[in-house]
Amino acid sequence: MDRDLALGLVRVTEAAALNSAKLMGRGDKIAADQAAVDGMRKTFDLLNIRGTVVIGEGEMDEAPMLYIGEKVGHGGEDSIEVDIAVDPLDGTNLVAKGVPNAIAVVGIARKGCLLHAPDMYMDKIAVGPKAAGCVSLDAPLSENIINVAKALGKKVEDVTVIMLDRERHQHHMDEVRKVGARMKLITDGDVASAIATGFEDTGVDIMVGRGGAPEGVIAACAMKCLGGDMQGRLYPETQEEIDRCKKMGIDDCSKILTLDDLVKGDEVYFAATGVSDGDLLKGVVNYQNDIAKTQSIVMRAKTGTIRFVDTVHNLAKNKR
Ligand code: FBP
Repeated sequence: MDRDLALGLVRVTEAAALNSAKLMGRGDKIAADQAAVDGMRKTFDLLNIRGTVVIGEGEMDEAPMLYIGEKVGHGGEDSIEVDIAVDPLDGTNLVAKGVPNAIAVVGIARKGCLLHAPDMYMDKIAVGPKAAGCVSLDAPLSENIINVAKALGKKVEDVTVIMLDRERHQHHMDEVRKVGARMKLITDGDVASAIATGFEDTGVDIMVGRGGAPEGVIAACAMKCLGGDMQGRLYPETQEEIDRCKKMGIDDCSKILTLDDLVKGDEVYFAATGVSDGDLLKGVVNYQNDIAKTQSIVMRAKTGTIRFVDTVHNLAKNKR
């Protein structure tokens, strides 16, 4: 895949972040999400790709833009065919409330390489590169923590586990406390928390817990690029959801999905832009009328290149 795609992808997440940040703290998560979708959708067509959204805003009849199956990009017959996973705003509540950790994200891989995960829950565990191969969804969390401590050369009490603050995670919280590790609870945004495990500066070592399956595939794109590790297991709650898994080619829903099951190969790109301040990325800052600054990360699995991109936008000159 063309290496210049990286900068194009940053434009896509920047546009989503700039648009949704305008609605920071307004208490309207639907409007914040829609603004992100609008920004992202327009910018996608600047890319020389033939993309198909496989993880998006919903089915065609539920979402007018960035729906599953939608074609994006202006590429002709000679351009590359890619699968696209988008979450124009991961953390719609975070923006509605004006609190940290909201990001705009996109993952891209060669056609056929992204798991077409249905919109349901997924159990997940993710770790950074040094702890790759040390965790399993089948193992007790305490065992995973001890293995990660060894791999990182840290004491167990210095390992930090991040998870969504949900009642369904009480057993995980109990186990972290019992083994004596540290814990960070977040209200939303498990894509950003998975990525955080890939950067020692964040102090976060393991992401665990049940969150959206589509977010799982997007996070997996990031973990592929970072050289980290991740596993997922779908969690269908109704017969309808089980049928949806089957329709998407997943016959055994209880199967552990490895990083390679979630994202095949190494022709993978991932980009994210901060909407509100987070562990890794600054949120959108407005300096003055029509001048805003964003911070983004863009990564490529094939080369392992990780770029942080600070951009000053002159919005008066560049009407997206
Ligand atoms: P939205 O931005 O779509 O609201 O998702 C936020 C999020 O926290 C995801 O990061 C996470 O995977 C999922 O919601 C968790 O779902 P729930 O809020 O039902 O626990």
